[in-house]
Amino acid sequence: MSELSVNHLLGIKYLSKEDIELIFKTADHFKEVINRPIKKVPSLRDITIANLFFENSTRTRLSFELAEKRLSADIVNFSAASSSVKKGETLIDTVNNILSMKVDMVVMRHPNPGAGIFLSRHVNASIINAGDGAHEHPTQALLDTYSIRERLGEVAGKKVVIVGDILHSRVALSNIFALKLQGAEVKVCGPKTLLPKHIESLGVSVETDLKKALEWCDVANMLRVQNERMDISYFPSTREYAQQFQLNKKILESLNKEIVVMHPGPINRGVEITSDVADAENAIILDQVQNGVAVRMAVIYLLASKINR
Ligand code: CP
Repeated sequence: MSELSVNHLLGIKYLSKEDIELIFKTADHFKEVINRPIKKVPSLRDITIANLFFENSTRTRLSFELAEKRLSADIVNFSAASSSVKKGETLIDTVNNILSMKVDMVVMRHPNPGAGIFLSRHVNASIINAGDGAHEHPTQALLDTYSIRERLGEVAGKKVVIVGDILHSRVALSNIFALKLQGAEVKVCGPKTLLPKHIESLGVSVETDLKKALEWCDVANMLRVQNERMDISYFPSTREYAQQFQLNKKILESLNKEIVVMHPGPINRGVEITSDVADAENAIILDQVQNGVAVRMAVIYLLASKINR
């Protein structure tokens, strides 16, 4: 397979196993490129990309921008906070105005689930979803599973537990799809109030006891509690949450094995994970960030090769 089955990256849900294999193979090549003294390739010299961020981001925004620059694309950056969205301009009008300046590809983060899907039906550009509300964050799941493959050799057959606020997490949903597609076993763990009803229908098992979940897994992906998406209280206090669901030295040392520790960031140190654990050798949190650039280069490169101009 030499090209993706899709023209946009809207969610892992729309990818095949072969698509992910192609993205990883291409990312392997770009990882080698970005470790060279000259980190840039001329591949996308004729492509213009707009990065539209309607929601805050550090890692994803910088990672996409760096990936685009490493591929020699022209880029424009848009942040809703300093734009005419504040004067009432709609999403379609905003994007069509940007596209009329001859933009080929749009990377978009938006607070509304499905915003990227909506856009792909109304504008003539390739769309990459950089996180849409509590729906999907496909490039995060790709870089997460790429990092598991790098550390453990393969994803198939590995046992991965995703811990924390599953209910509000686009990272959890995209990771579940990506891990299952690649043959991993997946468990979710958290307070009952933060586990979606019927989550088992996605082929995952559920555990509310962190120690049992950790004894089972090879990899623990720790998620942040997304207070910004909560309109009610889902647990009594942050202190009680940390008592039951925090990954710390004490609980890790009680296991008879080492596990790989992941976190998509941003980390709330001292809540879902302690600093000593986040910074330990078996934590691959900064590897995830580093791999994000190569994986995003691969996604952009493969989608750009499908653009008809
Ligand atoms: N992991 C992630 O999406 O981080 P940002 O919100 O900083 O982009």
